[in-house]
Amino acid sequence: MSIKTATLNGVATIEIARPQKKNALTAEMYAAMAAALRAADADVSVRALLIVGQPGVFTSGNDIDDFMNRPPATSDAPVFDFMRALVGCSKPVVAAVTGAAIGIGTTMLLHCDLVYVSDEARLAMPFASLGLVPEFASSLIVPTLVGHAKAAEKLLLGDPFTAEEAVEMRIANAVLPAGEVVRHARRMAERFNALPPGAVRETKQLMRRAGSAAVLEAIEVEAAAFRQRLSSPEATEAFSAFFQKRLPDFSTFS
Ligand code: COA
Repeated sequence: MSIKTATLNGVATIEIARPQKKNALTAEMYAAMAAALRAADADVSVRALLIVGQPGVFTSGNDIDDFMNRPPATSDAPVFDFMRALVGCSKPVVAAVTGAAIGIGTTMLLHCDLVYVSDEARLAMPFASLGLVPEFASSLIVPTLVGHAKAAEKLLLGDPFTAEEAVEMRIANAVLPAGEVVRHARRMAERFNALPPGAVRETKQLMRRAGSAAVLEAIEVEAAAFRQRLSSPEATEAFSAFFQKRLPDFSTFS
């Protein structure tokens, strides 16, 4: 199974484990992650959740073969259910970004509470470059965090960025040496064992309250545009180019 779960010392870990495909996420993996998030949220022995990848890669984003051949058909598709499960999680979610975090690998961080990034990680939100549009409310949250000009570099141009820049952009808390990021993130997650869980949950809810309706609305609006874009000639060219290991050619599109 490409999603592994384990609960130890009050922390429920969700591990993305498909290293042969750089942890690309399939519909089955989103469904497993959504189920794991909800199970951990309901488990009274769990005080915090930890999302981790593999050494050198957090996740390369949505599986591009799935994008081409099994695109999400409705807003109930597993990818959107995963988004709602993460946004709705009442307990603290900590992310250990062990390496490359592309597409949803970066946008899911916007909905985690504490984010620690390996000094070797590269992040990117290359949706427009792939003929797509932003998802997971990133079109709303990224400009709010960093301003329109910086957001345009990341969402319009699709420029990748380093762990240091992720901290500057207020997406992440700290940069850690690659070999220490998971240990550090786990230690931070375990700190919730010493805190009153009810007050932590209520504080998280209050911190997210003002934005939550707008975030859920943005997810829906983006998802409708995203689903349409998946079958566009622009996206087809971008996906084909990825698998043919060539640069896409958008010169004939208008
Ligand atoms: N979907 C499907 N397969 C993927 C994938 C993805 N998102 N990311 C990587 N893979 C596959 C590759 O096709 C390759 O498969 P193969 O061995 O059968 O040829 C394998 O994983 C290794 O990937 P590769 O590109 O050779 O590794 P790399 O170390 O050179 O680069 C990345 C790593 C993550 C930078 C690069 O794979 C990448 O850019 N992936 C696509 C990211 C993306 O655009 N995601 C969608 C965002 S919306």
